[in-house]
Amino acid sequence: MMVSFTLNGSPATGRVERPVSLLDFLRDELEVTGSKSACEQGECGSCSVILDGVVVCSCLVMAADVEGSSVTTVEGLESEETLNAVQRAMHETGAVQCGFCTPGIVVAATDLFSHNPSPTTVEIKEALAGNICRCTGYGAIIRAFETLAEESA
Ligand code: FES
Ligand code: FES
Repeated sequence: MMVSFTLNGSPATGRVERPVSLLDFLRDELEVTGSKSACEQGECGSCSVILDGVVVCSCLVMAADVEGSSVTTVEGLESEETLNAVQRAMHETGAVQCGFCTPGIVVAATDLFSHNPSPTTVEIKEALAGNICRCTGYGAIIRAFETLAEESA
């Protein structure tokens, strides 16, 4: 079957031959590889995308179910080919970590700041609760977003 939806603001169509996750559909069929495949069990957040306005783990969504929906991946978060505020904050404060956890963190934080431009530390931590780093930690990331929240206050 063919699946048509809006991907990062543009029409997208791909063939789904078998039951496949949105994550694999994005990466393997559409070659949009910013969302990363790690646990594939909804535990780590590296595959996070915004589906119809809600952050979801794309490894837990079936590709066939996004027919007619709007999906935003990390590739769709830049603003006119420049870093968005979340990306800029991470870059400027040295909070960019590895290529597995960072895309999901950028997606979750961009969603948070789009709804709440000046979140508290608790709200930042809650928004990132589904994004797991296996190796370094969260201190730099939290500080980056606290700084961004202060700038936005
Ligand atoms: S790969 Fe989807 S939550 Fe880990
Ligand atoms: S998982 Fe990316 S830095 Fe730890």
